[in-house]
Amino acid sequence: MRVAAADIDPVAAGFARRSLADFGGVVGVGDLDAPLPRDLLGRVDCLVANAPYVPTDEVALMPREARDAEPRVALDGGADGLALHRRIAAAAPNWLAPGGVVLIETSARQADASVALLRGAGLDAHAEHSDAHDAVAAVGRMPRG
Ligand SMILES: C[S@@+](CC[C@H](N)C(=O)[O-])C[C@H]1O[C@@H](n2cnc3c(N)ncnc32)[C@H](O)[C@@H]1O
Repeated sequence: MRVAAADIDPVAAGFARRSLADFGGVVGVGDLDAPLPRDLLGRVDCLVANAPYVPTDEVALMPREARDAEPRVALDGGADGLALHRRIAAAAPNWLAPGGVVLIETSARQADASVALLRGAGLDAHAEHSDAHDAVAAVGRMPRG
């Protein structure tokens, strides 16, 4: 198994590098998928993204500890919160192997919109809710043929 990750923030990438060291993971610094190894194009079985999805106008409404602890680039998802999700949905089919899946962390409020973005990119998509983890993910699968 190969593991590759990327983050635009060098500090976040440094933590990811430590987390993935035991798995031989490689971590690049840069915009979205730009740092990922190109030989993985069309070969990825599982693509996972936890990109920011808070709408710009709502960042100021977040708990102070979140705003103080996290850099703005980790929170701000653009005007409707979906700017990064839009780009991830557009890029995912380039990376996924037939039958491969992409999982994007989202919110209950934005789940339908995140799923629609994945469907718009040609993936079979739905939302998964986890009560145990209080989390929602938009899941898209690349058709097999
Ligand atoms: C909510 S944090 C998630 C951090 C970590 N990946 C995790 O899952 O716990 C969002 C991360 O997205 C990164 N990010 C924001 N915009 C990005 C972009 N255009 N390309 C790559 N990473 C980006 C931020 O630097 C931040 O580390």
